[in-house]
Amino acid sequence: MNVGSHEKPMLILKDIHKFYGTNEVLKGVSLEVKEGELVTFVGPSGCGKTTLLRLIGGFTDISSGDIILDGQRINDLPPNLRDTRICFQNYALFPHMTVAENVGYGLKINRWPKEKIAARVKELLEMVELAAFGDRMIDKLSGGQQQRVAFARALSLEPKVLLLDEPLSNLDANLRLVMREEIRKLQERLHITTVFVTHDQFEAMAISDRLVVMKNGLIEQVGTPIEIYERPANEFIASFVGYVNFMEGRVASIDTGTRNATVDTEFGPIEIRLDQEDTRAGEDVLMVIRPESVSLSLDCGTKRSNVICGTLKSYMYAGSLAKCTVTIGQKKMIIDQYNPRDAQRFTHADRVEIEIPRSVHLLKKK
Ligand SMILES: Nc1ncnc2c1ncn2[C@@H]1O[C@H](COP(=O)(O)OP(=O)(O)O)[C@@H](O)[C@H]1O
Ligand SMILES: [Mg+2]
Repeated sequence: MNVGSHEKPMLILKDIHKFYGTNEVLKGVSLEVKEGELVTFVGPSGCGKTTLLRLIGGFTDISSGDIILDGQRINDLPPNLRDTRICFQNYALFPHMTVAENVGYGLKINRWPKEKIAARVKELLEMVELAAFGDRMIDKLSGGQQQRVAFARALSLEPKVLLLDEPLSNLDANLRLVMREEIRKLQERLHITTVFVTHDQFEAMAISDRLVVMKNGLIEQVGTPIEIYERPANEFIASFVGYVNFMEGRVASIDTGTRNATVDTEFGPIEIRLDQEDTRAGEDVLMVIRPESVSLSLDCGTKRSNVICGTLKSYMYAGSLAKCTVTIGQKKMIIDQYNPRDAQRFTHADRVEIEIPRSVHLLKKK
């Protein structure tokens, strides 16, 4: 989605704190979500994601801070008077009702006339491709179909903000991939502001306009998936969004014109292109080296910059990808070799050469 400057914030979270007894589980969370945006809170289990979603939906009291929805402070409104709808992790569908009754439940509660309910339910079931399933009971549906019913029910009253708590976690791996694409397509088509919660970093990256990485009740970083993956703010985030090889070094020199820099490491100098403004010569840094960015070759001993000779410890061939472990002295590097062409030769190799890319991200060493 193109989040232009004309997009107003639909949801504003201002310095939200939440205590359970003396346990502070949200420690000052602030964020603006733009209209039509899909923002995902991602972080390890227990970091406060569900609590935050329940606070927005009105199912849990806020300890301090403000929740502003479309310009209105909604802290004290009960869930049914908030223009939000939540889809719980276990769907929370009514087992004794049909699909159509589940989807139309909120409309009935809001005293919509029968014909209007029927028309709206039909439209919603078509949208989630369950038009033929209106009369089915919930327990006669597959997990993916139940997920769609829950989604349709949440959308029935056209909420301003849709809240989704790990909506795909009960589905098997293949279906998860299909459903996340469907949710994203619908969300974009309806232009509905969505707060998505997951502990699955890959799901989060695939589905979101922006990610909010959380840890221990605090936001660690907010950014597009590409920003978070390529320019993580710290070691925790770098490791959370994928495997990473860290390599220590010291910035030896910076060419201020080209923004090329040399980092001295125990394996010799590495030439890189700086992706941030605030790096200074003399600083101790950690290089963030992704497994797929390192190239591996069978030559050993060529004298080119960024090339290091090492020992191939394991080579696990899996068709489109080979997962490799290379040691350089005491250091272990994990390398993903996509489209491995020389697999046959690598399986017998001992000495190999690795090439560190120029596009590595630097973290300041604490
Ligand atoms: N109703 C509750 N009473 C007391 N502690 C709770 C309650 N709900 C959640 N917590 C605690 O709050 C923290 C955050 O939980 P939660 O929001 O469910 O995390 P997440 O969804 O990120 O896994 C956890 O330490 C959890 O034990
Ligand atoms: Mg949770």
